[in-house]
Amino acid sequence: MSGTLHLVGVGPGDPELLTLKAARLLATVPVIAFVLTETQSHFALDIARACCNLAAELLPVAIPMAVRMPNGDFAPNGEAYAAAAALIADRLAAGRDVAFLCEGDPLFYGSAIYLLALMAGRHPVKVVPGISSVFAAAAAVPIPLVSRSQPLSVLAGPSPDATLRAALARAGSVALIKVGRHFDRIDALLQATGRREQALYIERASLPEQIVARVKDLPAGPKPYFSLILCCSDPEVRL
Ligand SMILES: C[S@@+](CC[C@H](N)C(=O)[O-])C[C@H]1O[C@@H](n2cnc3c(N)ncnc32)[C@H](O)[C@@H]1O
Repeated sequence: MSGTLHLVGVGPGDPELLTLKAARLLATVPVIAFVLTETQSHFALDIARACCNLAAELLPVAIPMAVRMPNGDFAPNGEAYAAAAALIADRLAAGRDVAFLCEGDPLFYGSAIYLLALMAGRHPVKVVPGISSVFAAAAAVPIPLVSRSQPLSVLAGPSPDATLRAALARAGSVALIKVGRHFDRIDALLQATGRREQALYIERASLPEQIVARVKDLPAGPKPYFSLILCCSDPEVRL
């Protein structure tokens, strides 16, 4: 009988923000898979390590950056995901459960999404949700993300200017993730849409090295991968 693949959200960085459900699962699961980046870092494993079954097989899967398509868009690296899925499928076929660690929530811009696409229907898949970076960032300030009937738009930094501009021009709050090397372009769009004054930059939310700053106070230039921007439409809610 096939083992179960658990896509486990481990939260934004502070190990105390891992759910009880994730901790209980990781304490006993026989195989723990995690993404190993090109720079040999493994953030999700770092977050969860204290909860992991000491006897578990640790299974690193290499997922290089997305590949650029001819139209300029980025697509997930299909070959790398297929190779990761094959490694995990071997363990599942032997009847062993596998936990795949994902920072934040697995189904919120997570690499787990592509494993779900490859595994669903072939092996049992379950998901343990996690606290997303967007929520940890709002808590870090702290600032109300959205209240009453306000909408919240979530955007990814690599999106085309027109997409970012349209969302920033709409009413409501905006969270911009994957800011990194797109910071200067996003900053210019914030200015053009009158959102720069309220824009907050949060780096490594929930970790001891967390930074919270106003975008307008930051120097130009790329920012670290684990950073995002919040533009909250109702920063000072009054009763
Ligand atoms: C591939 S997405 C993964 C999002 C993740 N699944 C989640 O639920 O937060 C990676 C982006 O999330 C944001 N991010 C993740 N963790 C963060 C943190 N601790 N502080 C600030 N931003 C973070 C950054 O914008 C980063 O580029």
